[in-house]
Amino acid sequence: MRTRRALCASIPLIAAAAALGLAAGSAAAQGAPKLKVGLMLPYTGTYAALGTAIENGFRLHLAEQGGKLGGREVELFKVDDESDPAKATDNVNKLVKRDQVDVLVGTVHSGVAMAMAKVAKETGTLLVVPNAGADAVTGPFCSPNIVRSSFSNWQPAYAMGEVVANRGHKKAVTITWKYAAGDESVKGFKEAFEKNGGQVVKELNLPFPNVEFQALLTEIAASKPDAVYTFFAGAGAVKFVKDYAAAGLKKTIPLYGPGFLTDGTLEAQGADADGLITTMHYGDSLNTPRDNAFRLAYAKAYKLQPDVYAVQGYDAAQILGIGLTAVKGDVAKKAEFAAAVQKARIDSPRGAFTISKAGNPVQDIYLRQVSAKENKVIGVASKALADPARGCKAS
Ligand code: BEZ
Repeated sequence: MRTRRALCASIPLIAAAAALGLAAGSAAAQGAPKLKVGLMLPYTGTYAALGTAIENGFRLHLAEQGGKLGGREVELFKVDDESDPAKATDNVNKLVKRDQVDVLVGTVHSGVAMAMAKVAKETGTLLVVPNAGADAVTGPFCSPNIVRSSFSNWQPAYAMGEVVANRGHKKAVTITWKYAAGDESVKGFKEAFEKNGGQVVKELNLPFPNVEFQALLTEIAASKPDAVYTFFAGAGAVKFVKDYAAAGLKKTIPLYGPGFLTDGTLEAQGADADGLITTMHYGDSLNTPRDNAFRLAYAKAYKLQPDVYAVQGYDAAQILGIGLTAVKGDVAKKAEFAAAVQKARIDSPRGAFTISKAGNPVQDIYLRQVSAKENKVIGVASKALADPARGCKAS
């Protein structure tokens, strides 16, 4: 019997042109081979909705470009990575070795993204990371053929450390999954919080993607901190926010985190998310002409409201288009690709941003508060925040 994953992995898709009803492009007629793009994303598990939103955003930009990037018609290949680092190298090699893709786009989970970055570095394959924040991707692993359209784990976390300290909180407990994204998010928060007079008094963890929070919530209640900082996303974030409220903690200890806690999750979290304050490079109420046009197009195409993951997928395609146009579709010209991307101003729905020498967005980090099932922007927590890119020789 073929599993859903095997099906996903083995069906090459004629990308956005087919999905969004576009006519076939003329690249074939001009003799240019199709550009093979490998999408490695989670389509099952805790982060499944994030993977789908990223693919939707990517396809939307592609459709707006008539199904082409850098003058070449795009053919998509898909692998469900299941957010499983143990399978990551095999999965990325399905795209690189079996399907011989020209470009890799992925993924959501930091541990899986590290395996992708290693293969990309070894093989020289272009890699665009549309979510995973692993600091090392644009730190020690930085490379001209690797660029991120999303954030580093440090960015929204550092911004939140300043916010929580400036709100007068002195003692914080942190709680997260024990893997790179959780660890780095807590580290970034702690760096800014303690620099600004706060103290992290306890760091609580559970394995990814475990959602048995009860014992840890009891420990938080006993510790009586001034604030709790947390990194959870996807289905885990839904359960954590609901459990935090059910334990009675929402009324007594303010909860903060990067916006993954409440992005793409608000329908399921309902009133338990009301009032939560998060930091993120996108929000639901930017109300700019650029974002309004994006939100309308996304809603028309998918009958859904976009979230930060959809924006990151859209911008992954935009960045790829900018680089590929500069090299006229020749993916071998990696240094020229990187130079063009680093010179560009990316016209994103989140607001325009640039790409650092290390390959990471330099972007505004908004302060948001949940109200009426939206992540309303209530300010800018950190303007044009650049990741420190520690360990990157190019920066
Ligand atoms: C990560 O693993 O890097 C990640 C996953 C979900 C949301 C944000 C970051």
